[in-house]
Amino acid sequence: MEPDFWHSKWNAEQIGFHLSEVNPLLIKHWSMLDLAQDCQVFVPLCGKSLDLCYLAELGHKVVGCELNQTAVEQFFAENSFAYLMTPANESISELNRFDARDITLYQGDLFSLTSEELSGVDAFYDRAALIAWPEAMRLAYVEKLTELLPPKSVGLLVTLDYPQEALKGPPFAVSNDWVMANMADDFELELLSCEDVLNENPRFINKQVPWLTESVYQLKRRG
Ligand SMILES: C[S@@+](CC[C@H](N)C(=O)[O-])C[C@H]1O[C@@H](n2cnc3c(N)ncnc32)[C@H](O)[C@@H]1O
Repeated sequence: MEPDFWHSKWNAEQIGFHLSEVNPLLIKHWSMLDLAQDCQVFVPLCGKSLDLCYLAELGHKVVGCELNQTAVEQFFAENSFAYLMTPANESISELNRFDARDITLYQGDLFSLTSEELSGVDAFYDRAALIAWPEAMRLAYVEKLTELLPPKSVGLLVTLDYPQEALKGPPFAVSNDWVMANMADDFELELLSCEDVLNENPRFINKQVPWLTESVYQLKRRG
């Protein structure tokens, strides 16, 4: 979606995607990646997710990217983290940078982030980022993610799939076939789980979406 869409959602506090707890799928599957405690984890389109806190509590250095400044400020305020803000500067970065102890958030458009800003990243976590893009923009996101991530970095990807014609996204439906067809050239992919989650999603039930699955993939950047 275009930036204005997301800014209006944050302004109107319509953030149904935000979970009030750490994503149970992250807790369940993260250890599968077998990462060193001090590794650096990139979280694209991070919102104000508590998953950032969970990853930092594991000892990881966490680097997120989020478009909306209110989201970033709420993240630090709601978790009582002191931070230092470095404004965007043409010669250094096109994004505002917010540094707390173990968490750095770049505030601005992911497409303006550079691999230099992510140097040191070994891992990544995508929940509600790939599925935030309509199909016409999704491939550009995958290409940007691939460009930003160093070879051999590993991560988790969480997707949703449902009959797209039954509901206007976001979240957008991303099938296993789409993931395999469009990401397998750049990532080794392993499907870790695929669960029926319709009953936990009243918005989808109310719109009479007939089925809804949530999948978790383990990824490794090729190269
Ligand atoms: C569906 S939400 C998911 C947030 C988070 N991953 C979570 O699990 O709560 C997508 C987020 O991506 C942000 N976003 C959208 N487009 C972006 C872009 N081009 N660059 C950075 N962030 C973006 C939105 O502001 C929104 O907070």
